[in-house]
Parts: sequence; C-alpha cells; structure tokens
Amino acid sequence: MRVLSGIQPTGRPHWGNYFGAIKQYIDLQSEDQAFYFIANLHALTTVRDGDTLRQFSLDAAMDLLALGLDPNQASLFIQSDVPEISELNWLLLAGTPMGLLERCVSYKDKIAKGFPVVSGLFAYPVLQAADILAYDSDVVPVGEDQKQHIEVCRDIAKAFNHQYGEVFVIPKAKTLDASAKVPGTDGDKMSKSYGNFIEIFEPVKSMKKKVMRISTDSREMHESKAPETDHLFQLFSLFGSKEEIDSMADLYRAGGFGYGDIKKKIAEAAADYFEPARERRLELEAKPEQLKEILGDGAAQARKKASEVLMRAQKACGLK
Ligand code: ADP
Ligand code: TRP
Repeated sequence: MRVLSGIQPTGRPHWGNYFGAIKQYIDLQSEDQAFYFIANLHALTTVRDGDTLRQFSLDAAMDLLALGLDPNQASLFIQSDVPEISELNWLLLAGTPMGLLERCVSYKDKIAKGFPVVSGLFAYPVLQAADILAYDSDVVPVGEDQKQHIEVCRDIAKAFNHQYGEVFVIPKAKTLDASAKVPGTDGDKMSKSYGNFIEIFEPVKSMKKKVMRISTDSREMHESKAPETDHLFQLFSLFGSKEEIDSMADLYRAGGFGYGDIKKKIAEAAADYFEPARERRLELEAKPEQLKEILGDGAAQARKKASEVLMRAQKACGLK
C-alpha cells in the first residue's frame, strides 16, 4: 500500500495541527511506502513573499522530522523539487470541467477569508490531484476539510482513465480521527485564523502564559464538573497518560479544585510532551546540510516514481 500526504507551509504548526493531522500522518509512515511532502506550490497561492515561502518550507520539513517523521521509513520532499508534478498538473487541467472546480468549497472559504481571487486558488484541487496520482497513491490521509479534494481527484482520474485507458490508480481518502478536534485558548476549535492557537515549538515560557490565559467558565470551586465537555480537560487529555487522565476525570466529578491548577498541569504536561521534539528541532537547525540531504534523497525517490507515471500519462494522451 502506498500512502501519500502533503502539508502546506503556511506558518508554524499548532497543537491542533499536530493531534488532528501530523501525528496521524507520522503513525502511518511504516506502511509499505509513504510519501510526505511540503506543498510549496500550493502555498504560492497565498504566501506571496519568496524569502518567507522558502523559510516556511524548510521550517515545515524540520517540524515534521522533529516530530518523528523518519526519513528511513518515509520519503520527505518539497513539492517543487518534483517538476513532473507541474507537467502532470497541465495534463489534468486540460480536461477538467469548470463545474467540478466550481463546486469546491475550499476556494470559496479562502476568498471569504479575504485572500485575493487568483486562478491558482480555483485550480488548486487539480494540482492536488497531480500530487496524488503521480505516485500511484492508494491511500491519502487528510482532515475532514480536504475530503472534497480527494473526491475531485478520484473524478479527474476516472475521467482520464475513461478517455485514455487505465493510466491512474484510483486513490482513497483516509479520514483522520475527527474526534481529535483540539480546542483553542478561547474554547473554540484551535485555528490560525482565530488567533487562539498555541504553537508546538513556541518557547515554553510563552506557551505557559497562553495556557494560564485560557478562558474558563465561572463555576465555583466546590461544584462538580463534567470532564467530557470541558476544554481544559480535553487539552489535558492530549498530553496525559491514561492514569493521569482518569484521575483528572475523577477530580472533575468530585469538584473542589481551581482551574488555575489544571492549567498548570496542562502547561507542564505539554512542555514534557514536546521536549524531545524541541531538542531534535534544535539539532536539525544546527545541521542544514543534513536537512538538504534528507530532502534531496526524498525528492529523488519521489521523482523516480513520478516520472514513470508522467510518461504513462503522456503516452496515453498523445504527447510522446
Ligand atoms: P488552521 O485552521 O490553523 O488554518 P489548517 O486548516 O492549516 O489549520 O489545518 C491543517 C490540518 O490540521 C488539517 O488537516 C486540519 O484538519 C488539522 N487541524 C487544524 N486545526 C485543528 C484542530 N483544532 N483540531 C484538530 N485538527 C486540526
Ligand atoms: N491541500 C492540502 C491542505 O491544505 C495540502 C495538500 C496538497 C495535499 N497536496 C496534497 C494533501 C495531496 C493530500 C494530498 O492541507
């Protein structure tokens, strides 16, 4: 089975990105073959400064490696280092009905958020289809928000196969665990767009400050509280061991505690949880040559497969 997924380099990852997506990608890296890439071509539609995009792309690669992506198990590369993707993108775009893209919600969402109306945002799902089809991917782990793009990819691949013969493998989405929705500092879903996020790699001191400022309700200390619906409890559950989580749940039901104590526990648990990743991140930053080598090897492995698939597609549609 071949697994593939991409991450846009649009900023530093927060706790929601980790538990909702990154951790689950990394858990799949031991599959037969896994390809993970930094989607810098996609990010071009919104990150419009060269130095920023370059830095975000390297940061995203270091973040994944620090968080446990093992380059001996999975190929890690930068999307634009595989030029076959851009070529395949055009082969797919040439036959994609406008209506298929007009139905996609993600570009409408971006435009509603105030991003400029560029055609790259509109054609974004076609480039994503090229990413997926270029490696004969079987499974694509994605969050709920990306499921429609995988459907579009399947439609594009089926139409191409129907027109030109069996060229592409039809991929399946693997939806990530939606229960892993991480609350932000205001209790709503943690998101870059809501300004309620805590970054994985931010300094422990500022992380602790943000945790201590998480909003809470005004119930009295002695009152019993339901753990399941409390966002502080949900946050603690991300980091604590099973025993710690169970005893925290008992404490909630019994009442008699202050939210400040819970916040301290969350901050400590989060600092411990990410400490090994923080150390690995510093080691990677000190060795830019090593990062270059990992990304170079990853791109070589990816190009090997992508050039084979591109050739198949080019031949089928009369370009070779
Ligand atoms: P943001 O909302 O901060 O812009 P993205 O849309 O870039 O985050 O999300 C990247 C990935 O992280 C997606 O797969 C998404 O499902 C996941 N993700 C983002 N925020 C959360 C959250 N609060 N809880 C769980 N998963 C999340
Ligand atoms: N669009 C995805 C996101 O914003 C990133 C992405 C680009 C991707 N190409 C992909 C994900 C291919 C899975 C497969 O999160």
